[in-house]
Amino acid sequence: MSSENTSSRVDPSVAHPARRYDYWLGGTDNFAADRESGDAVEARFPTIRLGVRENRWFLCRAVDFAARQAGIRQFLDIGTGIPTSPNTHQIAQEAEPAARIVYIDNDPLVRAQAQALMTGTPQGATTYIEADLREPRKILEHQDLRTVLDLSKPLALMLVAVLHFIRDDEDPRAVIDTLIDALPDGSLVIASHATLEHLPPEQAEALVKADGRAHPRSGAELAALFARPDLEMVEPVKSVSRWWPEAAAEPRPADADVACNGLVARIVRAAQPS
Ligand SMILES: C[S@@+](CC[C@H](N)C(=O)[O-])C[C@H]1O[C@@H](n2cnc3c(N)ncnc32)[C@H](O)[C@@H]1O
Repeated sequence: MSSENTSSRVDPSVAHPARRYDYWLGGTDNFAADRESGDAVEARFPTIRLGVRENRWFLCRAVDFAARQAGIRQFLDIGTGIPTSPNTHQIAQEAEPAARIVYIDNDPLVRAQAQALMTGTPQGATTYIEADLREPRKILEHQDLRTVLDLSKPLALMLVAVLHFIRDDEDPRAVIDTLIDALPDGSLVIASHATLEHLPPEQAEALVKADGRAHPRSGAELAALFARPDLEMVEPVKSVSRWWPEAAAEPRPADADVACNGLVARIVRAAQPS
């Protein structure tokens, strides 16, 4: 963890994605501005809390899949959010105690709470870095990341419910390409993304206005962001609630009530001729 003290930079008067998400999840690490923004979205999309829970369960099932079925031992979780239980390291280290996790977020409040993200097993390692997804090279070159992760070995790149905070003019495709280019064969990419594609146009429009932060994209747009010859979809992009439904806690809700798509893909690179 970098030594710069950032908690003094938390601005309670402006709604922030991490704190608003915490509010929807029932947490207490949020301010009035976050709750107001959260309520404004909920007034136009009454199942928002169901949607964020479903997104969180997708994250849990995807990490479990990565650790238990894909043999992944390293996780780079970008846009991790305010710590909530279970976190990526808890799921990964339950499957493999030696799993190593780097958490990234750009919200100073997440940094202030990050100690809860670094309570992993003695066999493994977890660390938190305050950084911005829009600067992927800084993330990849960060000394703390290099201490915890070995980029020559497969890892799971996690971009869960964060890409919709990257506008088109901030070039999410280039961000994704920079990250994926740095990962070896056998790595996994786990992403989820808000979508309005199942909502009536008037509701979608009202929601975008009320939200003011997120830039939802359709499932096809999400798939296009990750369309690369070295990336194989584990299954086609679909609602987060439809991934591994047998492991989900409740009957699966309608896609329109969740409004969030999930993507899981493998990096498959042809062997270099020797
Ligand atoms: C909706 S929360 C998702 C949290 C967690 N990944 C999950 O799905 O449960 C989005 C998180 O992304 C973070 N975030 C937004 N833009 C970011 C950026 N440019 N760089 C890093 N983190 C960002 C927010 O601070 C917030 O914590």
